[in-house]
Amino acid sequence: MKYLIVGSGGREHAIAWRLLNDGSSKEVYAAPGNGGILPNNRIDIKVNDFEGIARFSLENKIDLVVIGPEVPLVDGLTDFLNSKGIRCFGPSKEAAMIEGSKLFAKKIMKTSNVPAAAHWDFTGKEPLIEFIKKQDKFPIVIKLDGLAAGKGVGIPQNTDEALLFINENVKKDTRVFVEEFLKGEEASVLAISDGVTVIPLVAAQDHKRVYDGDRGPNTGGMGAYAPAPIVTTERMKYIKDKILQPVIDTMRKEGIPFKGILYAGLMIDEDKITVLEFNARFGDPETQVILPLLDVKLGDMLNSAVDSTLDKFHIKFKDKHAMTVVVASKGYPGDYDKDKVITGFDKISDKIMVFHAGTEFKDKNIVTNGGRVLSITSIGNSLNEARQNIYDEIDKIKFEGSFYRKDIGYRALT
Ligand code: AMP
Ligand code: GLY
Repeated sequence: MKYLIVGSGGREHAIAWRLLNDGSSKEVYAAPGNGGILPNNRIDIKVNDFEGIARFSLENKIDLVVIGPEVPLVDGLTDFLNSKGIRCFGPSKEAAMIEGSKLFAKKIMKTSNVPAAAHWDFTGKEPLIEFIKKQDKFPIVIKLDGLAAGKGVGIPQNTDEALLFINENVKKDTRVFVEEFLKGEEASVLAISDGVTVIPLVAAQDHKRVYDGDRGPNTGGMGAYAPAPIVTTERMKYIKDKILQPVIDTMRKEGIPFKGILYAGLMIDEDKITVLEFNARFGDPETQVILPLLDVKLGDMLNSAVDSTLDKFHIKFKDKHAMTVVVASKGYPGDYDKDKVITGFDKISDKIMVFHAGTEFKDKNIVTNGGRVLSITSIGNSLNEARQNIYDEIDKIKFEGSFYRKDIGYRALT
């Protein structure tokens, strides 16, 4: 089968790598891809060029388009490709609203009786400011309704910080809500669904803050590992039965079946499991640790969801541990330089795999082209082993201004 992956991050490199290495496919293209994907397999088409993606898919007889990022999903790429007769993995525009609008997600959760944080809605600044001024309990959580590339959530510790976030982010018509602050440990449970059946994948834990010890601003994710022991078998059963399946059932009953990856961002506090958010796609960097552990062909899993046969699909995971550490550009998640030459790819052993994210091929070099540059990944018999493999070798790969967290996986290490 021929695949086209839409996107350019570490997640897309991991999907392409997995399809090519597990016998799913001999021909995988990426639009636009990154410096980790062979130039001949990269298509110079942007993720918002729907016509271009359709044209390439039809001309090259692509069997399945796999959409990585949220923006083209929320903008309706799946519906557009389907209308041209092109098979595609990823939810429809309407179903992707579970990520595209946090208030829509709240509505679906309420109908499905899914545990969510209490929230209060507002449109615009004034009523929100009045509400904040009456608050005496901090921290609180302020969330913008729409997609915001990870920058739509503020967790102010006092009134002044709350007003700063509001003044910077909330305009007259902005839909926004305040949410109770929840304590606990976060986990990402991604599940594949065909709109009826839902199958959870191995649970992962992301590290969203930029610096060690979970300090500094939120990022897209600085590292991840799987399985995440916080998601015990018992908790996973609860997550499937009380969260994932009810949401899939509600969406089907409301005429917006969800086909694709439903990603639940969870807060776990002993007996209490609460949904913080849903995403409508594979997570990045969670995908870099989930896919290496998959013990079935990725292509079979994706096609089974598209063909609505997941009820007959048996998922299996290897009894191993995976970790990934993101190497980022100085300044990320704020402004950063590009075009720094990356060296050392020839020095690493086969104990680690390098998934590229913000890289480009330029003048015979691989250079930086983004905030999150590389995702250094290893699989081991224990999390300690995977971790050791990564930190033994990560400094062999160099570029000016590179940095990474040194404590990925700390909550699960024994
Ligand atoms: P979200 O995009 O909704 O997942 O929020 C981004 C990050 O903000 C989450 O990964 C959490 O670290 C944090 N967060 C969001 N909502 C809450 C909440 N209600 N209580 C505590 N932390 C939260
Ligand atoms: N790692 C967080 C996300 O993919 O949204």
